[in-house]
Amino acid sequence: MKPEVWTIIVAAGSGERFGGLKQFSQLGGTRVLDHSLRTARAVSSGVVVVVPVEFATRDEGNAVDTSEPDRVVVTVAGGTTRSASVRAGLAAVPPAAEVILVHDAARPLASEALFTRVVAAVSAGADAVTPVLPLTDTIRRVGDGVIDRTALLAVQTPQGFRAPALREAHRPGAEATDDVSLVEADGGTVKTVTGERSNIKITDRADLMMAEAWLSAL
Ligand code: CTP
Ligand code: MG
Repeated sequence: MKPEVWTIIVAAGSGERFGGLKQFSQLGGTRVLDHSLRTARAVSSGVVVVVPVEFATRDEGNAVDTSEPDRVVVTVAGGTTRSASVRAGLAAVPPAAEVILVHDAARPLASEALFTRVVAAVSAGADAVTPVLPLTDTIRRVGDGVIDRTALLAVQTPQGFRAPALREAHRPGAEATDDVSLVEADGGTVKTVTGERSNIKITDRADLMMAEAWLSAL
């Protein structure tokens, strides 16, 4: 039996390092946010898009085409931190959801296959699942020389959760840069799946150029 899957896309950041709202920047003829919205809709019963509060009541935030009315898309206002934004999204996910995915709008190129892989790993028996990739750069710890790169993994989204595990970990005030670490700190079981090289996070302008390059190569 397929679980009921809902996806929260967090798009409520201010894009300080980018110098603007990167989630609404143009990428391949549409907005950055629209790429992951399309992918999330394909694999989810419903999607909650978390946008900056000033966009929550405007068309920009609600940029959803209504051609697939069976797929619910809800727009809610985010918080001052990423974790607060996830919680705002979580409040709009219905109790029927069994698997909840949390995805950064800043990662527009995550594939449908990756979303599916994360859901499958949760269904196979984990509280939390994250895509990871090995690092390729040699890494130095400040003041402490080169560290063993084979012990390190770069974490991506979408991350997937058994719904109760995510809801429990997200008690008010809980803060982390990702959600798997919150569930892990709560004693939850974590599994990893292989991420994607093309699933880059847009942090600054150079990343947007990289994403354009990936798009024309994919
Ligand atoms: N995010 C969010 N709410 C926040 C902060 C971040 O929904 N209060 C979202 C961003 O929109 C992004 C994802 O979390 O999709 C990852 O955050 P990041 O890449 O850090 O984006 P920003 O916080 O917008 O960028 P910066 O840190 O440079 O300001
Ligand atoms: Mg940020």
